[in-house]
Amino acid sequence: GAAELGPYRHYMQKEIFEQPRAVADTLEGVQAIVPELFDGLDAEGNTQTAAWRVFKEIDSVLILACGTSYYSGCTAKYWIEAIAGIPCNVEVASEYRYRTSVPNPRTLVVTISQSGETADTLAALRHAQSLGMTHTLTVCNVATSAMVRECELAYITRAGVEIGVASTKAFTTQLLGLFLLTLALAQSKDRLTPEQEAKYLASMRHLPVALQSVLALEPQVISWAEDFASKENALFLGRGMHYPIALEGALKLKEISYIHAEAYPAGELKHGPLALVTSSMPVVTVAPHDELLEKLKSNMQEVRARGGVLYVLADGDSQIESEEGMHVIRMPEHYGALSPILHVVPLQLLAYHTAVARGTDVDKPRNLAKSVTVE
Ligand code: G6P
Repeated sequence: GAAELGPYRHYMQKEIFEQPRAVADTLEGVQAIVPELFDGLDAEGNTQTAAWRVFKEIDSVLILACGTSYYSGCTAKYWIEAIAGIPCNVEVASEYRYRTSVPNPRTLVVTISQSGETADTLAALRHAQSLGMTHTLTVCNVATSAMVRECELAYITRAGVEIGVASTKAFTTQLLGLFLLTLALAQSKDRLTPEQEAKYLASMRHLPVALQSVLALEPQVISWAEDFASKENALFLGRGMHYPIALEGALKLKEISYIHAEAYPAGELKHGPLALVTSSMPVVTVAPHDELLEKLKSNMQEVRARGGVLYVLADGDSQIESEEGMHVIRMPEHYGALSPILHVVPLQLLAYHTAVARGTDVDKPRNLAKSVTVE
């Protein structure tokens, strides 16, 4: 009811603003990277200590999910390969369940699901199990769900109940859970020094404060949304682990504002989407201050040279300034490996405020359901 919404107009907006709290709750009690973070409960409700044995045993990771959860998995692939050094594949659940694949019994199958009840993701899990992959872990927001019951190990995010159909706080808490999983896998493979562990934990603990400062950028995002509301197409660019963030930004905009949006890894611009660039298609660029920024800047020049208008999310410590045809929002300083968790937030706000400006039913977009429990 309206009372629960407090100062917010929609659940989606409320849930976007709950992210500092959701992230803090998800981290509560995390003092160290320990196997218990991922252990499941046995039939009697006792904690099993299976995680360490499983993590030692596996030599690859297969992530299965749908929708926004799939994009958190795509982000995690970058972490798992770079930090834990373990090969990782990510697959849309509805594809995996129906194709002939090559099973590796030493795979850790990771399902990601807000609801824990998505039919395709459950079917993909069961399919993997039927192929002899017994090591399964879920990152899930509902402790009592079928997904948690059916997986060997579980990591429960503490986003709290999510009502808006477009997922927001579930996504950022999934990312956090997947980052913790990455660190635990790295540790089990002797790739995490105590110094690195301490550094990552400190960075995670600072996230709620960093998220607050990103949320404070809402007025600037609203002015972008005023431009977007009259557009019919938008392009999102990112590179590296921010490419899945660009995909998630495009998905959010499609879902609730009904503007056609797609995302590309910026290096692929020249292989197609550059042909679409005109002054009437805004190009959102996720531009963290990382080792790919110089490459990304030349991709941005390619867009500008064709009259495209850029909307850039830059980190506070980089040298990107607003100019003609280029609107810049300054984020906090570069946040290292956890940067995707910050950069997705203005994209959520952009979709939200664009949808509000267009007058769509933000919390219940047409044709979509919160949880898709049938195929
Ligand atoms: C639906 C929702 C999405 C969600 C997807 C996967 O399509 O509208 O927001 O990302 O299902 O749901 P899950 O509960 O498995 O994360």
